[in-house]
Amino acid sequence: MALETTSPPRVLSSEEIVELCRRYTLYEWSAQSAVDPIAVDHARGVYFYSPDGKRYLDFNSQLMSVNAGHSDPRIVDTIKRQAEKLAYANPFMAHEPRARLGEKLAELMPGDLDKVFFTLGGAEANENAIRLARAVTGRHKIMARYRSYHGATAGAMALTGDPRRWPNDIGDSGVLHVLDPYHGPQREVDSAEASLRYLEETIQLEGPNTIAAFFLETVTGTNGILIPPDGYLQGVRELCDRYGILMVCDEIMSGFGRTGEWFAVNHWKVVPDIMTMAKGLTSSAVPLGAVGMRPKIAQHFEKNVFYGGLTYNSHPLACAAALGAIRAYEEDDMIGNARRMGEVMRRHHERLKARHPSVGLTRNIGLFGILELVKSRKTMEPLAPFNGTSEPMKAVAASLREQGLYTFVRWHTIMTNPPLCINEDQLAEGFTIIDKALEVADSAVS
Ligand SMILES: Cc1ncc(COP(=O)(O)O)c(C=O)c1O
Repeated sequence: MALETTSPPRVLSSEEIVELCRRYTLYEWSAQSAVDPIAVDHARGVYFYSPDGKRYLDFNSQLMSVNAGHSDPRIVDTIKRQAEKLAYANPFMAHEPRARLGEKLAELMPGDLDKVFFTLGGAEANENAIRLARAVTGRHKIMARYRSYHGATAGAMALTGDPRRWPNDIGDSGVLHVLDPYHGPQREVDSAEASLRYLEETIQLEGPNTIAAFFLETVTGTNGILIPPDGYLQGVRELCDRYGILMVCDEIMSGFGRTGEWFAVNHWKVVPDIMTMAKGLTSSAVPLGAVGMRPKIAQHFEKNVFYGGLTYNSHPLACAAALGAIRAYEEDDMIGNARRMGEVMRRHHERLKARHPSVGLTRNIGLFGILELVKSRKTMEPLAPFNGTSEPMKAVAASLREQGLYTFVRWHTIMTNPPLCINEDQLAEGFTIIDKALEVADSAVS
């Protein structure tokens, strides 16, 4: 397809955009012949629009990350103002957005965490958290969990437990994986006590003095919105304290209001030693991640060199965007809205479960939600295999898309993670669409 290059450029159609994107750019986590992207032109609040005007309700906040909703003017304006004033300063400088955001995060982070290292996104935040943990403890090994995703760079991928690691494994990363309390729809969730007994035994067998840190998503995201049983996180905190292991909570997806608290750890009043953030930090308007740390970690680097750095560390535009996003969350009480709308979401989930035999399990905490579809409520066999899909799940996904609802349909699950500014009517609109799509899934139930 030849495109004229005279200005002003001709507006491209949806088909042209998709065709050029597919031809010249590589899509992630996909065989390229299978990708079928939606062309997106503009977005506002909980909706985005294709160039030809089709409206989609964004029930996944893109990548569980546009927490403040699309194109919030408070975020857009701060970025514009900052771009005009100072678009970039290298990370050895000090500038106002960095100063203000550092101070603000120290106020928002749990417990005594009061210092951050800024990165480009989530994976680099976890990379640097590994670096901090190893430097501070002098230990090499890291524990993480199987049902987890921590990012696609080498170290973050080594932490990742899910099948995205299989083709990327570097083998000698020093990361060992442990089981989660959750074991799939057929076995469901172990008690906190059982999970902690297993965890402690693993620590003892590995050699407690060799383990620098335990990384965990506080509420696990793409692996199934896994909410820890009460007592689990407190127990992990105690085990980490007992064995001198740093507790690192990955709040990249669960942070910034997603669960109805600023950070998911707040639900259980647990203070990690290190906490990683990204996504909702800027509501994804500009890439930014951060590693938050307690004074005992920061203190180590008063005399010891921190051997890490990034050209875009503390990027002024990104820090400004984050200040705009935090302002939006605060001014509109979006964290409280996530909590309140989370209750509404729970009722929708329950209603769908009552109406549709294909709905085996539902879960949500705030606006972090999931439906697990099954072939049969008796056996609870998932409607698609682990790390796979099935014809009924493909048909559900097609129905949602056709009806103008965007969300993640992964394996046997449908995710429900809208922006935190969503209201009751918009939630009802989304669940009416899901209701209809589930009729397709019901016909596959035995
Ligand atoms: C829990 C969690 N950690 C880390 C990451 C990686 O973040 P990024 O894609 O910004 O590198 C993600 C991304 O989805 C995530 O969900």
